[in-house]
Amino acid sequence: MFELPDDEILSLSKEHVFFTWSAQSKVNPIAVQRAKGVYFWDVDEKRYLDFNSMTMCVNIGHGDERVIKAMQEQAAELPYAAPGMTTKIRALASKAVADLTPHQALTKVLFTLGGADANENAIKLARGYTGRYKILARYRSYHGATAGAMAATGDPRRVAWEPNLMTGTVHILDPYRYRSTFHRTNPDIPEKEFAQDYLNHLEEIIQYEGPETIAAILMESVTGTNGIIIPPEGYMQGVRALCDKYGIIMIADEVMSGFGRTGKWFAVEHWDVVPDIITMAKGLTSAYAPLGAVAMKPEIASAFDERVFESGLTYTSHPVSLAAAVANIHVMKDDGIVEHAAAMSRVLKRMLTDLGESHRSVGEVRSIGLFGILELVKDRNTREPMAPWNSSSPEMTGLRKYCLDHGLFLYAHWHTVLIVPPLIITENQLKEGFDILDKALEITDKAAFDDR
Ligand SMILES: Cc1ncc(COP(=O)(O)O)c(C=O)c1O
Repeated sequence: MFELPDDEILSLSKEHVFFTWSAQSKVNPIAVQRAKGVYFWDVDEKRYLDFNSMTMCVNIGHGDERVIKAMQEQAAELPYAAPGMTTKIRALASKAVADLTPHQALTKVLFTLGGADANENAIKLARGYTGRYKILARYRSYHGATAGAMAATGDPRRVAWEPNLMTGTVHILDPYRYRSTFHRTNPDIPEKEFAQDYLNHLEEIIQYEGPETIAAILMESVTGTNGIIIPPEGYMQGVRALCDKYGIIMIADEVMSGFGRTGKWFAVEHWDVVPDIITMAKGLTSAYAPLGAVAMKPEIASAFDERVFESGLTYTSHPVSLAAAVANIHVMKDDGIVEHAAAMSRVLKRMLTDLGESHRSVGEVRSIGLFGILELVKDRNTREPMAPWNSSSPEMTGLRKYCLDHGLFLYAHWHTVLIVPPLIITENQLKEGFDILDKALEITDKAAFDDR
């Protein structure tokens, strides 16, 4: 369609593309040419096994013709309509999303362009509904890179832009057992008591901040890039109860954990919790087109029955993105992809456990569905991370490079390695990736321990 010799893609990109999350002089992107299933290929025909679903988003796998065809047909029929209009695909997509929400309780849907602006709009809805302004979020979290979503983000990506972000956010600690501040001296505390300690912490902060000032608690249902932190039993139910007690809106950020990633459509279903608002993106279209959504309970929508919701986006409900979403949901249902992810949960857990047992550098493994992580440590007793907070180390850089050189694309973040493959992955394909990771960890073990 458009011509450019393969060997000029990288140089032309380096000349004109401004890359995000990067120091421009350091970028060295893979020039990707095509992708199918759980693999993608660069312009030199090198094949990579995608253990990160690109950006934890290609949930149904690459190159699904059914989604591509739906987008093509929508583009030919009507590529765009104004936000104040409606379309067949807008009606169908909003119903399809509402029907997926827990107990079908979140009946109204606002479409955005991605995850950050979904969270921005969720915050506005909660503030408008409650008349309050504070947003509680957790330290180990990421909610997006726009000013409001970044203010809610707890991790260092927020700190980089302070103080020029949205005001009114307050952060709390995460129920993160492996590095729990409260439980250094009693690490074997039963799960329910552990959860209760963090709920007590949350309630204490609510008291200090003044419940009458708090509009919403915004939480990733299962924490993504900050460490696949799976809430302990009772925690999500307890957050729900505190929200009810104090009239606070519960917003579940399911941008990464939604659409089958944890073996359920939404991760909150594991704890049978119904949030007031769910934000989603990524797996909503499996990244075939950009789209986010805010699903809300009817009473939140009704707060704006007479009052204008002062917000909007030129590309809200973009028909081509909505066609991708509806087709993506059909594919997930027709192919039983959520059920497959749930079945593969055990396989991933076993492979992670085996890897953890055979490498000294693995401190802990965690997973739920096809959402997994290895925490690498320099010492299993002290749990000293293989790279410091918000930094890297030669061991981590070496591991990432080994994997990439051997055709395994994954996300190594600080001292952790995330396993977030497309949900269609088979046991053999998972093993293919784990075999490479096993070899990479042999080198990590040697580098970290052999000279001690
Ligand atoms: C949990 C979570 N929320 C929000 C976002 C932001 O989504 P986007 O990059 O589409 O704005 C992300 C992106 O990684 C995310 O993981």
